[in-house]
Amino acid sequence: MFDFENRVVMVTGGGQGIGAATATLFGEQGANVVVTDVVEEREAVGEAVEDAGGSALVRELDVTDYEQAQSVVKDTVDEFGRVDVLVNNAGIFPTAGVDEMTPEDWQRVIDINLTGTFNCTKAVLPVMRDQEYGRIVNISSASGGKIGWSGELSHYAASKGGVVGFTRSAAIDLGPDGITMNAIVPGMIDTGAAEEVSTDEEIQGAVNMTPVGRQGDPDELAAAIVYLASEPAAFVTGESLVVDGGITLV
Ligand SMILES: NC(=O)c1ccc[n+]([C@@H]2O[C@H](COP(=O)([O-])OP(=O)(O)OC[C@H]3O[C@@H](n4cnc5c(N)ncnc54)[C@H](O)[C@@H]3O)[C@@H](O)[C@H]2O)c1
Repeated sequence: MFDFENRVVMVTGGGQGIGAATATLFGEQGANVVVTDVVEEREAVGEAVEDAGGSALVRELDVTDYEQAQSVVKDTVDEFGRVDVLVNNAGIFPTAGVDEMTPEDWQRVIDINLTGTFNCTKAVLPVMRDQEYGRIVNISSASGGKIGWSGELSHYAASKGGVVGFTRSAAIDLGPDGITMNAIVPGMIDTGAAEEVSTDEEIQGAVNMTPVGRQGDPDELAAAIVYLASEPAAFVTGESLVVDGGITLV
């Protein structure tokens, strides 16, 4: 149903977890995938994309660096001729209560999770506007407004709530040029990331509260991203698609 032959997909934070699963799934759809990240693992993901049947371009990209984002977009256009899809996935989730959190801690989370989303969007927009076609998918979080989750994630929650607000307003701006922007709102996804910020008891508690009774798989997130990035999703914009096994229902 979804044809990504000759489509060009740029994924941020593509070196591991949800970003790696997403890049690989786009590869399976025959897309040209630009795998970007700050970590070296991006190279192995580029190989996985090619093994899956896609073409890969691998680039270092720190999403806080707008000029680097512009340079990666230029390389992408030089290599593949266009940019059809941007997946703003790069993110960090350190924990700290409001009292312990330093202004630098706060700023770093906002810079990567929220400003990084803006930087990469702004970098691809001239190309997408010229093409009169684009799909931008931003990864938010259930903690960005659907659920409190933890008292030690307020900077993270603020950044992810910001992503939803950015998505709704920017979608209005982009729509007339054939560009959609949507957000994905994941619950707990089994990338190992939750283990870094939560105890086993906390994770099991969240699983117990999840109607489907387990964490999500990165491939399940990737499938939702591929849908929003597809041509047939043209009439969906400014939306937040919750992919959480139902945890925010209860
Ligand atoms: N795993 C979950 O349960 C979950 C839940 C809700 C939302 N999310 C969101 O999904 C996204 C992916 O999460 P994940 O679980 O795969 O995490 P992950 O840590 O496995 O992957 C995140 C990637 O972002 C990269 N990254 C970090 N800082 C960067 C920067 N400055 N520039 C570019 N890349 C950078 C990391 O190197 C890493 O490869 C994040 O935005 C996260 O907030 C995850």
